[in-house]
Amino acid sequence: MSAMRHLLDLCKRRGFLFQSAEIHGGLRGAYDYGPLGVELKRNVSQEWWNSMVYQRSDVVGIDTAIITPPAVLKTSGHVDQFTDEMVDSRLSKERFRPDKAPALKLVDQDKVLPISAPDKVTAKVWEQDIRTQFAKGALITRKGKEILLQVERMEKDKIVLKKDTAAGTTTSGEPTDLHIPYHGYVDPNSNSPFLTESRPFNLMFKTYLDPIDPIDKVITTTLDAQKSPSTSDLASTRQLVDKTLLPSLTYLRPETAQGVFINYATVQRSHPHLKIPFGIAQIGKSFRNEIRLEHAIFRTPEFEQMELEFFVAPWQAEEQFVAWRKFRMDWWRYYGRNHDRIRERPHAQDELAHYSSGCVDVEYLFPWGWGEVEGIANRGDFDLSKHSEATGIKLQYTDAILMQERQVREKATGVKETSVEVLAKERFTPHVVESSCGLNRAMLALMLDAMEVVDEQGKVIPFPGESDNNSSNDNAIVSKGVRTIMRLHPRLAPVKVGIMPLISNNKDLVELCTGISQSLRQELQVNVSLETQSTTIGKRYYRMDEIGTPWCVTVDYESLQDRMVTIRERDTGEQRRVSTEEVVEIVRDGLRLHPRGSKQKTIY
Ligand code: GAP
Repeated sequence: MSAMRHLLDLCKRRGFLFQSAEIHGGLRGAYDYGPLGVELKRNVSQEWWNSMVYQRSDVVGIDTAIITPPAVLKTSGHVDQFTDEMVDSRLSKERFRPDKAPALKLVDQDKVLPISAPDKVTAKVWEQDIRTQFAKGALITRKGKEILLQVERMEKDKIVLKKDTAAGTTTSGEPTDLHIPYHGYVDPNSNSPFLTESRPFNLMFKTYLDPIDPIDKVITTTLDAQKSPSTSDLASTRQLVDKTLLPSLTYLRPETAQGVFINYATVQRSHPHLKIPFGIAQIGKSFRNEIRLEHAIFRTPEFEQMELEFFVAPWQAEEQFVAWRKFRMDWWRYYGRNHDRIRERPHAQDELAHYSSGCVDVEYLFPWGWGEVEGIANRGDFDLSKHSEATGIKLQYTDAILMQERQVREKATGVKETSVEVLAKERFTPHVVESSCGLNRAMLALMLDAMEVVDEQGKVIPFPGESDNNSSNDNAIVSKGVRTIMRLHPRLAPVKVGIMPLISNNKDLVELCTGISQSLRQELQVNVSLETQSTTIGKRYYRMDEIGTPWCVTVDYESLQDRMVTIRERDTGEQRRVSTEEVVEIVRDGLRLHPRGSKQKTIY
């Protein structure tokens, strides 16, 4: 079983993550976070906010609207440029991104092109479609759910298929039907090269702020357009429909960043103490109509972002970009255990967004390979300049101290200082260094990073593909005595303490457990779980390990006499007797922000 499958099973079984609307058949790409998932997600975002806002004096927070008017996103470039290329498979009708699709696979010394249908019945239908529409006259056979096309040769941008000489000549002529255009990719699910041309697809969700159903407006406008020959063609009708809908058109924001840029001036005015460099942080939902949804919560249409826009003087941008990269990598290394699974990947010049002069992805080594969890970018002055141009509102920064100093000098010397360099230091459009992290992806990465499967002796069993000898551990992972430990950082753990009476239905023991839970809740405001299932203490410990609970406290008969309890640590399994008051202190201390394995405080 792969690490991802193992994690998703655990998430469902223990209440981290559920398929949304499952009882109604579910919705692709939509997930609900259960009681443990919501705690973990809140903790990850809280740790981000803590490090980005509370532990610094140069960053403030904001929470802006999700529903965004078109003017904002037209100005930011999203309306025209926030697109992915999209291709349809002519056989399966599936849509996919060509840049993520695999290259053609040939077999039998590159002489056979196999196309895999999901089942035999579909294979028959596809075979017929190929014979009658996509490759008339080609030599085709079918084996079960595989359709096999014989390949004559590959050319630079074409696959030339072998002709079925037994079938006679085709009505439409050989060259067009046997020469299949090939752009370097095929349908990822079937290996089919029968595709539409790729076309841009805007990823933003449109919606309409209007009490009248927009579909009614579309129908009325279309019917009216059909009445006149000058507007009845597709392009003109489309134009009229767009015009009718424009007044009520809005978008679900595709990133939280634009909400920050359009509030730059209002935040600055309301917080005059903020001197450049300073930042505005935001955590919130964003929406993208992704062509390809993948790996559970890795890529979904609805997700949360944790974004910081740090406003700097143009001459500080490069230095701040470097500093923020280090700051964010330190954050990842602090909460992650496997430092070899997190890396920075600088973007190549041709990958950079139109506004960006530098960008690195923070990537995590997921079970399927390296994947982006965060982007850190030097965005230049693109955003503020564009919003300023579009609105006529100056989005600049004025250094009042430098300005005053110049005025004093001018008074003293009687000479006006008009040099461009001097004035540009006083007033300028700030540049932006951005850190943009996906909360759901961060949560997925941190769970995978923390998850370990161990045998009865506590020895780690690698997942298939992780072990050096490459042998499959499928059986080992699910065999008896094997258990999972989620070694989450205590501050991320959804439940901080599991409290359990030795005998689950003993009133006195349960009462003492409830008292300890109450002290922890009141003193530390943490999530505590009273574990009163009638199973052995060992099993209850393992249940707590599986969800990442750092401490378990067991109350036994002696506890009723001496108020001493057993506290057990998840990572070491170490147990000791402590007083009920000490439990609070141990947990308080364990939740302090010191580096793992040391008691020294960090900057976070
Ligand atoms: N403001 C910059 C921006 O939005 P991005 O690279 O498009 O940059 C930033 O997105 C982060 O948001 C990504 O690194 C990823 O973690 C997360 N993200 C983007 N699209 C996502 C999706 N469809 N599902 C889940 N997370 C996503």
